[in-house]
Amino acid sequence: MSRQAQTWGAIAVLTVVGIVWIKRQQQTAIYEPLGRSSLREMLTRVEDEEGTDGMVTKESEYPSNWWTSSELLDLERRAIFSKVPIALAHASMFSKPGAYRVFDHPSGYPIFLVLGKDSVLRGFHNVCRHRAYPVVSTKRSGCTPVLSCKYHGWSYDLRGNLVKAPKFDGLEGFTKAENSLFEVSVGVDGDGVVFVNVGALPGPSTAVVVARFSKYRVESWDVDVGFNWKFAEFSDTFDLAQTVEKYTPNCPSAALLSLLSLQKRTENIKPTVLTEILHFKGLRSTLMIKVRPVDGGKSILECAFYSTSANLDSSSLLDDIKQQLMNRITFLETAFEKTKHAVPQSNESHLSTILGWVKSHRNREASVGRPIWPASDIMATVRANDSAAENLCRDLEASQPDVGIDIEKHSASEISW
Ligand code: FES
Repeated sequence: MSRQAQTWGAIAVLTVVGIVWIKRQQQTAIYEPLGRSSLREMLTRVEDEEGTDGMVTKESEYPSNWWTSSELLDLERRAIFSKVPIALAHASMFSKPGAYRVFDHPSGYPIFLVLGKDSVLRGFHNVCRHRAYPVVSTKRSGCTPVLSCKYHGWSYDLRGNLVKAPKFDGLEGFTKAENSLFEVSVGVDGDGVVFVNVGALPGPSTAVVVARFSKYRVESWDVDVGFNWKFAEFSDTFDLAQTVEKYTPNCPSAALLSLLSLQKRTENIKPTVLTEILHFKGLRSTLMIKVRPVDGGKSILECAFYSTSANLDSSSLLDDIKQQLMNRITFLETAFEKTKHAVPQSNESHLSTILGWVKSHRNREASVGRPIWPASDIMATVRANDSAAENLCRDLEASQPDVGIDIEKHSASEISW
């Protein structure tokens, strides 16, 4: 090949890589990371204050139980997790029409995702329109052509339409069309990450190109951890660079990446609250870590590893990832024990964003005198003209997540500013 051809070839490769990089930056920007404060900065501060148990004594706009309050977590479920897209799954989990999976959404609403015959991935509240029992109740994942509620036999198609309602056919004032499942907003990004927003109406349907993700191998596992979800709200909390370095010592694209200042072999994305995604360059693998809040001081890390690499010994890579992750968890739990009674300082930009959301929602609730659940408001709108379903509505309200708080009772004491 002539020198000129080589030069043009190199320019073409650089152009393609540049376009991919720009698209990735744009894609990342869509989901507005909360901030990139360094956890190490905060921990360093704690170490500097050794002997004071990490207590920061200056006046703070944060409540004193910011890191530990279960009542505050209840408010956060309504103020944040019910309003923003949350990265919940990967498209590779839904390989054929009818594939479904149940999720405990951090807002407190049980939902499930199911792939339609039209290749559209849809999400629904796991609540039957008859008496509000769970529609999917026996297995948390599987594949089915029709969604049948086990209690009284109401059945729905994969689009959530009611197709069978024993004893209700011909009943005056009853129409199947008014008793579809309550759908939630679902989006799938270019990397196959599935986002769910229970506080938004579903947008236009987009088909998932299932074949694109069918070669992904998936392994998932959960870890109980002893820290508040906000403690993991840093974009680099679970950085596993050492593992990646070990498995990509001679990454072939390293020279090119370094030309573009992309020499880091791990790319961390913080697409929304609660989720951190690590792309391992050169390994064609991705680790998704979701933090599911349990109470003020406890969470569950839901981890899922996806890989398309045929040559990778994924079992030993996974062992290393799990070990390094456990090291991080131990470190974070130790740090949490030291800092859990401290209040943040005002320069923690992402925490002040969370504080702003929580305060604003709390003010709205105070003005109407009741807890506001955005997803329930949407369901109420959907059924507003459905007078025949009056009793069903009442049952549905009774099935709301049991995580609400009594504003009067808690506003002055447990969550005090
Ligand atoms: S059929 Fe589902 S609750 Fe009755």
